[in-house]
Amino acid sequence: MSSETAVKEAIPAELSGMVRSVKFADGVATIIADAGSLGRSAAAQLQKELEEAVGSVAGVEEVRVALMADKVARQVIAVGSGKGGVGKSTLTTNLAVALAKKGVKVGVVDADIYGPSQPLLLGVANEKVRAEGKTLIPTQTEFGVKVLSMGQLIEPGKAIAWRGPMVGQALAQLMEADWGDTELLIVDLPPGTGDVQLTMLQKFKPAGAVVVSTPQDLALIDATRAMDLFRQAQVPIVGLVENMAGYLCPECGTLSNPFGQGGTEAAAQSMGVPFLGRVPLAMEIRVASDTGQPPTANDTQYGAHFVGIAEQLAGFLGMAKG
Ligand SMILES: Nc1ncnc2c1ncn2[C@@H]1O[C@H](COP(=O)(O)OP(=O)(O)OP(=O)(O)O)[C@@H](O)[C@H]1O
Ligand SMILES: [Mg+2]
Repeated sequence: MSSETAVKEAIPAELSGMVRSVKFADGVATIIADAGSLGRSAAAQLQKELEEAVGSVAGVEEVRVALMADKVARQVIAVGSGKGGVGKSTLTTNLAVALAKKGVKVGVVDADIYGPSQPLLLGVANEKVRAEGKTLIPTQTEFGVKVLSMGQLIEPGKAIAWRGPMVGQALAQLMEADWGDTELLIVDLPPGTGDVQLTMLQKFKPAGAVVVSTPQDLALIDATRAMDLFRQAQVPIVGLVENMAGYLCPECGTLSNPFGQGGTEAAAQSMGVPFLGRVPLAMEIRVASDTGQPPTANDTQYGAHFVGIAEQLAGFLGMAKG
């Protein structure tokens, strides 16, 4: 029996479920264990038991136990636009659902106090948010995505009274909720460059920002402004998405371009940021979204547009999963 096998066999069965790797070389046994779900004293106990068990193996002179971080390394992606109504929320939902289908543990934070939409888009509009003490418990959806929304914290119609510090506190409550093993939080920002965006950038520095625009010039000018904000805060731009690009008439099959064509891609090129893809303007997307069935949840032709964008986001995050 090799010494490494002897080291492995020395680990008590009740602890082996937490052990991620065991190495043995030159008298040194190195054990990596997952203490993510343990409190501090239980983690210390785990370490001690591993050291004792492995330390008694013949030939082992030293035991090094590395406990994996208590906190899941969680990345934050912001979805923004300069202009309202361009499809940030729709994109956020579908990116989240597409990534969840690939096995990424995704949460959605709806940071739009004036028009929260994620609970509706993810089919949990009627669920009340739960809390343990002051910590909010994200709502689980049928798509494997967890969600928390500003809309769950405020009474409908009261949003208008919310200003700076309150907005910041509410955002913090959402971001610091009990996200558990969630690896990626996608934040659906309100349009423009206000309090929520500033708090988001200053306090919860995103790993990157996805900026949505429609093809027309006015929306693009606003998108540029949103990108400037991210850049000033040194948040990398993952890329630009063109939404509502081209309208395929369901009656006659003609493709028209109510908002122009290709503007976002050209803008991305001239600004030196990646172009992540375009999503057509389609009745099916709106209808599916409004009924809490994101197009990516079912393998529809419209879902495919979002999936392509989600794959690029996964690549950016180093989360490319099969
Ligand atoms: N590609 C699309 N085809 C058809 N309808 C779409 C498409 N994208 C978004 N919509 C619809 O357009 C409306 C606005 O979209 P959405 O709420 O995602 O935009 P937003 O940028 O988040 O808006 P706001 O600035 O108000 O938060 C919604 O009714 C949505 O269903
Ligand atoms: Mg929105």
